[in-house]
Amino acid sequence: MKPSTLLCPAFVLVALAACQPQSGNSVPDRPTLEETEQAPAPRIWDKGAMVAAADPRAVEAGLKILREGGTAIDAAIAVHTVLGLVEPQSSGIGGGAFMVYYDHEDDALTVFDGRETAPQAADENLFVIDGEVLDYVTAWQSGRSAGVPGMIALYKAAHEAEGQAEWGSLFQPAIDLAREGFEVSPRLAGLLANERLRDAVRLDEDENASAYFFPEGEPLTVGTVRDNPAYADLLQSVAASGPSAFYEGDNAQAIIDVLGQEPLPGAMTLDDLSSYSVKLRPAVCGDHETMRICSAPPPSSGAVTQNMIWGLYERITEGSSPGYSDEKLAAWVDAQRLAYADRDHYVADADFVQVPTSDLIDPRYLDARVADVFAPDGNPQAGDPGEVLGRGSIIGMWGRDLTDETPGTTHISIIDKQGNAVSMTATVESAFGNSRMVNGYLLNNELTDFSRQPTINSLPVANAPAGGKRPRSSMSPTMVFDQDGDLFMVTGSPGGNSIVAYVSKTIVGVLDWGLSAQEAINLPNVIARGPSVGVEIDVERGQDWADMLSAAGYPVEERTGENSGLHVIIVRGNGLEGGADPRREGVALALD
Ligand code: DON
Repeated sequence: MKPSTLLCPAFVLVALAACQPQSGNSVPDRPTLEETEQAPAPRIWDKGAMVAAADPRAVEAGLKILREGGTAIDAAIAVHTVLGLVEPQSSGIGGGAFMVYYDHEDDALTVFDGRETAPQAADENLFVIDGEVLDYVTAWQSGRSAGVPGMIALYKAAHEAEGQAEWGSLFQPAIDLAREGFEVSPRLAGLLANERLRDAVRLDEDENASAYFFPEGEPLTVGTVRDNPAYADLLQSVAASGPSAFYEGDNAQAIIDVLGQEPLPGAMTLDDLSSYSVKLRPAVCGDHETMRICSAPPPSSGAVTQNMIWGLYERITEGSSPGYSDEKLAAWVDAQRLAYADRDHYVADADFVQVPTSDLIDPRYLDARVADVFAPDGNPQAGDPGEVLGRGSIIGMWGRDLTDETPGTTHISIIDKQGNAVSMTATVESAFGNSRMVNGYLLNNELTDFSRQPTINSLPVANAPAGGKRPRSSMSPTMVFDQDGDLFMVTGSPGGNSIVAYVSKTIVGVLDWGLSAQEAINLPNVIARGPSVGVEIDVERGQDWADMLSAAGYPVEERTGENSGLHVIIVRGNGLEGGADPRREGVALALD
């Protein structure tokens, strides 16, 4: 593997000391131009461009921007504003995202952390009333669950860093579609028609959401043309005046008003909104025998889990030849169990608590951790990277976080004509966020990604709520680089805490089992968090895998209706290969 060439690009605002690969290897700084004898040859990109996302209309908006010379970041903004319209159950401008951006010419990675943030007035008892921890649904369907949205601020920070297209033009596809009206998709209509979901989601209880999704009391049906002038107007203002149109003035007041309503009014203030800032963070990468995996650092679980799972899998299967085998499937399950246990224990907002990010993916820790692989019917426990690496035990600092997460997220993968790439997972957390609608978009319930229970067995939970803190996320927008350090794969998915397993499936499926992007996406989902192993049985090979793992002694939980939404782009010798998850409605399309 060639030594790291990943650097903090000039626009990274965080302390440069943090701009080190976190794999434990020391990486020399790249010489400046003045230090080299001559400028390096420009890096050539001749593989084309592609957009993969959850709706063809959003993909087309992204392709249009790329066709006109926009960058992957420009395209991501256009794609996402259209998704906020046509896939409102999953994400939108009332939510947040993590975006990993790869600059091909500079060979540099940056993470834009647009995660929703707890209001300053929040504390560890955000979801505790009179000593009782609120159940998930009560917490979700309350004014307290919404974090300050990060999406529009992320668009701006990313565009200022690497946008080429004119800011206002990026909103035009969504504005046009919102004014003309869009055809309601089968997935959106299906969710709205689902009575059980309707009872849980309670869109009917919000005046705006009810009128929008249930005109005359009936759910929107497939093919109905739904316009959204309020969303078009707001985007038009953002296009003209920038993020202040969202974070200040009428829109900000409307957010505060709707969150101030019963049940359980939230404590968000105008000041919380106007002071929101995107955090630009260095990507965290792990070096492995045949590749480098880079993803978002905490509060995202992406970098920790994807590197841990692959690193452990590689160690368990050492000496085997490439390709699928039943033993390797079991090895992947074992690797997941250990990584999930560590993630559940340690990952949280590292600006608030100590997260041993680099230690968890340190090869010396992985060498030791692989010995913890346990019997199929055992119960996973967190490891102790502090002890293994001689820094002193840290396992007793925290109680284990058992936060659950439910549907409502989307993933976008893009490579532009210059070879720059975006991997962005965006969310409103649950289906339709917290169901309160403002100016044609839904607010998020991201704060339920905190541990609602702030202490477990008298120990604080790392991921407990606090004012200004960002909740832990399973979102894992990821890029894989090959042995020459060249971009090989852009991947990511929605799916709550199963995201970790979904994304890992594409890495293992493509890199070790030799599959195409689409074949890897189509594989049954296998999720090994906690003692049981969830296996998706209503897809090809699913029942076989469930039976095989069951026969090997794993407590298999047979699952149907998995919620992945993987969108993957692979860089092959002869061009780009894409894949889109058939479990959702997306496509991967190359620029012609
Ligand atoms: O950030 C997270 O981990 C969750 N809010 C993601 C939720 C999700 O993916 C639901 N997906 N379908």
